[in-house]
Amino acid sequence: MITAEDLLFLKKMGLMGGLNGQVLVSSQKLAESLKMSPMTVSRRLSSLEKENYIVRSVRPDGQYVAVTRLGEDALKREYADYKKLFEDNSGTLLIEGEVISGLGEGRYYVSIPGYVDQFRKKLGFGPYPGTLNLKIDPFSVSVRKRAELHSWVDIEGFQADDRTFGSAKCLPCRINGYKCAIIVPGRSHYPDDVIEVISEVKLREKMNLEDGNRVKVEVCIR
Ligand code: CDP
Repeated sequence: MITAEDLLFLKKMGLMGGLNGQVLVSSQKLAESLKMSPMTVSRRLSSLEKENYIVRSVRPDGQYVAVTRLGEDALKREYADYKKLFEDNSGTLLIEGEVISGLGEGRYYVSIPGYVDQFRKKLGFGPYPGTLNLKIDPFSVSVRKRAELHSWVDIEGFQADDRTFGSAKCLPCRINGYKCAIIVPGRSHYPDDVIEVISEVKLREKMNLEDGNRVKVEVCIR
């Protein structure tokens, strides 16, 4: 059984060039870079050699190490796990938080025809005039950051009534099955842990929500 520490060693030696042939490895330097004692390092190298993850030869100028095919395969399996972790982007992102009251501006902006037309066309629903504000959990803040990489819909800015209305972006999502979208104004004044959601329905009414109630936002990603 390969251990996490073995993998760390193999990775280090691979980065030093040990996947392409033999490289000179100083146990002292390896120990320093891994913040381990030279004794632990030499013990670990012997055990990796015994298990056929590396081959070593000692020459007058020091010890040479190469990672074997078996060692390389162990690293590749680790790599495959990381790939799955960071590159398999299909599924649902879940953002959770609690309902809070906003500044009462949502109602005004979400009912402006120049925006409503775009919501209809680009999101497929005409929203209830307002935004539901959620203070999201600390864990969800990082999920929300991951969501930055996904398919946001651009809502363009425009001129109307001698005023300029700014752009925004929307991320389609669902709350309790209702069609919704997270909306971020071009110039957002909210901190990372607050999101604003528009929806085809008045969510407070349909879900009987009050400030402090918890809500799950499901973001479907392809
Ligand atoms: O900004 P603030 O939360 O004060 O309200 P708003 O954006 O003007 O929206 C009016 C009310 O409707 C607020 O209580 C929102 O939380 C709520 N709302 C809702 O329940 N469902 C929506 N899809 C949008 C707003």
